Amino acid sequence: MSRNVKPAVWLVLAFCSALIAVNRAYAAEEVLARTPPMGWNSWNKFGCNVSEQLIKDAADAMISSGMHSAGYEYVVIDDCWQVARDANGNILADPQRFPSGIKALADYVHSKGLKFGIYSDSGTKTCAGRPGSRGYEYQDARQYAAWGVDYLKYDWCSTDTENAEAAYTTMHRALLASGRPIVFSICEWGKSKPWLWAKDVGNLWRTTGDIYDCWDCKKEYSTGWLVILDQQVGLETYAGPGHWNDPDMLEVGNGGMTVTEYRSHFSLWSMLAAPLIAGNDLKNMPAEIKEILTNKEVLAVDQDPMGMQGRRVRKNGDMEVWAKQLQDGSRAVVLFNRGASETEVSANWEDLGYPSRLPATVRDLWNKKDLGKFTGQFSAKVPSHGVVMARVTP
Ligand code: GLA
Repeated sequence: MSRNVKPAVWLVLAFCSALIAVNRAYAAEEVLARTPPMGWNSWNKFGCNVSEQLIKDAADAMISSGMHSAGYEYVVIDDCWQVARDANGNILADPQRFPSGIKALADYVHSKGLKFGIYSDSGTKTCAGRPGSRGYEYQDARQYAAWGVDYLKYDWCSTDTENAEAAYTTMHRALLASGRPIVFSICEWGKSKPWLWAKDVGNLWRTTGDIYDCWDCKKEYSTGWLVILDQQVGLETYAGPGHWNDPDMLEVGNGGMTVTEYRSHFSLWSMLAAPLIAGNDLKNMPAEIKEILTNKEVLAVDQDPMGMQGRRVRKNGDMEVWAKQLQDGSRAVVLFNRGASETEVSANWEDLGYPSRLPATVRDLWNKKDLGKFTGQFSAKVPSHGVVMARVTP
């Protein structure tokens, strides 16, 4: 009897453990970028001027500045680390700028308790004219995994007539096949509306062209953060744990804007549940910039586990109110003044989705101060180009 039962028991056990393994695989995939990724990327400040030393310095500064303790973890080399392919098609790093090779650099970043990211492009060439991954997707993904890459930003230059969904799906599958969990950052500038197809392909997708370090300027391929902000309206429902709208990396601290404007840029990116990828020189960071990037109460808004993207709930000329629902039922609120002079801005409970008679406490997240109990609304004076950012808790 027991002899007959045993095979059946083993069969059931084998079936159950297979189920558990499949579940784990899915769970592991889902856990990637459960909250918007936080880190640093070389492009906004250094462009093509990347090197082993620059990346090591950024990793060191991420620790010593307190950025890592605030939650930043990915150190990402953008374009220009690669120069050619060898006779077997393996991608080669610039030997002058990365003399120890990418694996050694990844090991260094990991030794600091940080994660390591890299950049490539879906076309034949990257935007800076370096070799792209087209036709080499599986080979490159295997190489990244062997190096210890944790994050891939994948651009869209020289893609000719490629179909974006198909091209990004190929690299997504190649990354899965590599066996290493790698956050996949789709950088296709919103051209094919990736929010409609990328949820199961990547962990974040750019929604617009490049950001430029200015308030609202418009250049050929890039614009100020305010122009990008307006392009996020209507995309709110597409974001969630594991898959985020990406309004591009931060310009905070790069010198083209005032501290007030940088605080507004950072506040609104946090309201959008945007990936927070710093783009400044971490090694030479003034105190007021560090204070913006490491404000824990503001970061908690961006990183709220429910993963709801905030929305603009009121616009009256230059005065705007933005609200983001948080997991504990409270709301993050930004009163935003785009105008040229100080103005009083009010947030109504109804715009926040609360009954107007509900009493709630209001905490100012930049001044780190409780403002008291309010019912129906609260108002504050907001400086030109500035914000008041608060958490409203019933
Ligand atoms: C594109 C991307 C940028 C950056 C550059 C690098 O413009 O959108 O973020 O990666 O390429 O060449």
